[in-house]
Amino acid sequence: MINVALDGPSGAGKSTIARAAAKAFGFTYIDTGAMFRSLALKALSCGIDIKADPDAVEQMLSHTSLDISRSGDAQLMILDGSDVTGLIRTPEVSKAASDIAVIPFVRTWLLDAERTMAARYNCIMDGRDIGTSVLPNAQVKIFLTASAEARATRRLAELKEKGIDVSYDEVLAEMKYRDEQDSTREVSPLKKADDAIIADTTELNLQQSIDLVCDIIRKVIC
Ligand code: DC
Repeated sequence: MINVALDGPSGAGKSTIARAAAKAFGFTYIDTGAMFRSLALKALSCGIDIKADPDAVEQMLSHTSLDISRSGDAQLMILDGSDVTGLIRTPEVSKAASDIAVIPFVRTWLLDAERTMAARYNCIMDGRDIGTSVLPNAQVKIFLTASAEARATRRLAELKEKGIDVSYDEVLAEMKYRDEQDSTREVSPLKKADDAIIADTTELNLQQSIDLVCDIIRKVIC
């Protein structure tokens, strides 16, 4: 199978670009952030204080099921039998996903599912540690990045489109919180793999960013 690992900080456009590139190559797009988000959603709805009580998160996982199903291009997250896809993109869940991703047990719990999917499909998998830890043998590794300000502006537009009312400053602060936590945690931090190619999209529009990523993939696999 051909595996493309696409890592980078939040708001770099990974999911939009990965979805478009997957379509161009006929690959399956796998959004690993959505897995962490789904578990975070459950922890929040169970009233668990994720940072203070990781043991409660571990306990929660012993009676949690998480599946991925597909609807056209979309990846649906099925948590304990219910479709939670529409509930996992709020700023509250974003922060909780970054918090829950620090817990080593959570990462191990998801690792099997991530690797099983990569073994089954030609895929583009996006996340933070795909090239360094989940799929160290991926044929293509890309580290997608952009300045914090450019990422916050794009994320703000996305949230506004979904009717979520937040300010630029709130989005920027949340993004910096996640950048810091995701890249300094002990287990599998956000980090460019030594053999990853950097794609900086600060000055690029969406189509240019998609073209850049597709060109990198094409050069390796064609
Ligand atoms: O890509 P995203 O914004 O949907 O991810 C949400 C959070 O999940 C992110 O802040 C860190 C965590 N995450 C991770 O630690 N490892 C991954 N492979 C994907 C996401």
